[in-house]
Amino acid sequence: MRILVTGGAGFIGSHLSQRLLGRGDEVVVLDNFNDYYDPAIKARNLGELGEPAGLTVVRGDIRDDALLAGLFDAHRFDCIVHLAARAGVRPSLVDPLLYEDVNGRGTLNLLEAARRHSITRFVFASSSSVYGNVKEIPFSEEAPVNRPVSPYAATKAAGELYGYNYFHLYGISFTALRFFTVYGPRQRPDMAIHKFTRLIDEGQPLPFYGDGTTERDYTYFSDIIDGVEAAVDRDLGYEIINLGESRTTSLTEMVGLIEVAVGKKAILDRQPMQPGDVTITCADVTKARSLLDYRPTTTVPDGIQRFVAWYRALQGGT
Ligand SMILES: NC(=O)c1ccc[n+]([C@@H]2O[C@H](COP(=O)([O-])OP(=O)(O)OC[C@H]3O[C@@H](n4cnc5c(N)ncnc54)[C@H](O)[C@@H]3O)[C@@H](O)[C@H]2O)c1
Repeated sequence: MRILVTGGAGFIGSHLSQRLLGRGDEVVVLDNFNDYYDPAIKARNLGELGEPAGLTVVRGDIRDDALLAGLFDAHRFDCIVHLAARAGVRPSLVDPLLYEDVNGRGTLNLLEAARRHSITRFVFASSSSVYGNVKEIPFSEEAPVNRPVSPYAATKAAGELYGYNYFHLYGISFTALRFFTVYGPRQRPDMAIHKFTRLIDEGQPLPFYGDGTTERDYTYFSDIIDGVEAAVDRDLGYEIINLGESRTTSLTEMVGLIEVAVGKKAILDRQPMQPGDVTITCADVTKARSLLDYRPTTTVPDGIQRFVAWYRALQGGT
């Protein structure tokens, strides 16, 4: 297959590109290498893929119509996997218009390009954030998601809605995958597990929001990539599918696991809960199991050990 991976230089995108190239697909990565975090990290992510014959890297913006037109003229894509986004929850409160521009308009731009070029399969990175403070645990795809608690969540819900438009009007198969906190090697440096590991290792205070009872469903990257790969291979019509582990870990437990893996104690800088944060995320993955044959295998304690091993190797190598 020939697959466009937007955001392919990022954490999840570089792993997905690696998986697809490994099985013989042609991959075009479209990424603008923005400075939300150090672009050198994105270059390093792609560097880890080597220089496989099937890989083309295009440095550009999903909001650039002319660039998309040229790209879609030059390549006949079998599938678009749209991962490019502004991805942090808290920064979306600071610059909501940027989030709307990249995540909302950018997604619409790609859907328009897909329509114009008769591309029939589109896989979209949505987020557990769309559930907001939904009360029923675990979160089912049937739950109403019209009460987002951050601009980021609203833009991801908007992407799902635009996707339905393009399925309904133009028959584009659109699968929205709601990722639940993804971690593992190459994880974004702004995400909690990566940040906590760095701060504990360096003996610096760790911002600890709330009383430690907030819970997250943490998903190891390779399980997520299994789910995305399965979605790439299927025309499902319009579907929204959770990709998580269906288990939760409290903030206190997570800090404890990282302390053990790093071999140092955390210095906690206790702070109130942040606006836009949710108290719990937990995925019902019944639908993923039946539609994508999704079977996550990595437990959080194992995943944390592997993440910290990667972190250590990186420190040793730089
Ligand atoms: N990591 C998670 O836990 C998680 C959870 C839920 C959803 N998601 C979603 O998964 C996707 C990937 O997340 P990630 O953690 O790998 O983030 P990431 O920031 O590492 O990757 C996103 C990539 O998109 C690129 N990008 C951003 N704006 C762009 C633009 N306008 N044009 C072209 N490229 C652009 C960035 O340069 C980056 O390389 C995002 O859509 C994110 O919202 C991630």
